[in-house]
Amino acid sequence: MADQFSQKKTACVVGGTGFMASLLIKLLLQKGYAVNTTVRDPDNKKKISHLTALQELGELKLFGADLTDEGSFDAPIAGSDIVFHVATPVNFASEDPENDMIKPAIQGVQNVLKACAKAKTVKRVVLTSSAATVSINTQNGTGLVMDEKSWTDVEFLSSEKPPTWGYPASKTLAEKEAWKFAQENNIDLITVIPSLMAGPSLTPDIPSSAGLAMSLITGNEFLINGMKGMQMLSGSISITHVEDVCRAHIFLAEKESASGRYICCAVNTSVTELAKFLNKRYPEYKVPTDFGDFPSKAKLSISSEKLLKEGFSFKLGIEEIYDQTVEYFKAKGLLK
Ligand SMILES: NC(=O)c1ccc[n+]([C@@H]2O[C@H](COP(=O)([O-])OP(=O)(O)OC[C@H]3O[C@@H](n4cnc5c(N)ncnc54)[C@H](OP(=O)(O)O)[C@@H]3O)[C@@H](O)[C@H]2O)c1
Repeated sequence: MADQFSQKKTACVVGGTGFMASLLIKLLLQKGYAVNTTVRDPDNKKKISHLTALQELGELKLFGADLTDEGSFDAPIAGSDIVFHVATPVNFASEDPENDMIKPAIQGVQNVLKACAKAKTVKRVVLTSSAATVSINTQNGTGLVMDEKSWTDVEFLSSEKPPTWGYPASKTLAEKEAWKFAQENNIDLITVIPSLMAGPSLTPDIPSSAGLAMSLITGNEFLINGMKGMQMLSGSISITHVEDVCRAHIFLAEKESASGRYICCAVNTSVTELAKFLNKRYPEYKVPTDFGDFPSKAKLSISSEKLLKEGFSFKLGIEEIYDQTVEYFKAKGLLK
């Protein structure tokens, strides 16, 4: 008779050090999963300190692996029931996005999925995609609603090369490669499509997405311009609490009827609307609300209807997202 330990499900989280992945690991351990996770440099004690701290919650094993290193995922994925492919190369300042982001992201998908096919134990793969694979297009107007059928226009990105174009291009091409590989190799794949994430982080460093989401409060002009750029390129400011994104990953991994792509977005807004909300909620930070002739309304919203119809519900709205991120920034000494 199988003992309790052998019935335990094993999940592999590819890219455990990150903002979202480290919280995902924590939630999986709390749910009783055994977790294997991959990190690029297992000898970098500082970079993995938040993961070794999670080992007291349950069975967590760390493996060294790189997206570009074929075969490095075989050992961590062997014997896993579920694989969460979260890692992605991020380098917004890159002068060579093709080699820094696009190629390694696609190669990573191939290498991770090859290891899944080889393992023969993996029942489902959950890939973390991005709203950046859905909403970038040359359509005009306001009030557009994007769903899982929408794909970012990669031809537009690679011909016009707007700032930061390499990241959305890499995410879109990587997700498309995942669908192709999964179909050809009979892999049960789900993709989760989160919007900008904020909320407290377990990582030793402040995640760049939390810094971006907080820019109107911290007054960082460079990042405020980044938010404006995001609205112009992606069509909206769409935000979700990192914990809800992790919950959605686990929900979809466990929900047998789930299939295809799932947008995971709690709040759709614009820079101006967000600034007005923050100015009112936290008057002490004197958030600016006048952005001249910058468009006050978002061009589009991204719809989580499919995820909600599957039975998921968001726990944390705009108030909780910002209350918790403000507290986190205060605890880190970044806000008074
Ligand atoms: N944060 C957001 O607002 C947001 C929004 C939408 C979608 N997403 C997606 O959600 C996922 C997690 O995002 P995040 O912000 O939590 O990530 P993050 O904190 O930036 O972490 C990125 C992770 O990818 C790993 N990585 C990068 N290049 C790698 C390579 N060549 N080989 C192996 N691992 C590599 C990093 O490992 P090292 O520690 O070794 O560097 C790190 O663990 C990503 O797929 C991202 O595209 C994020």
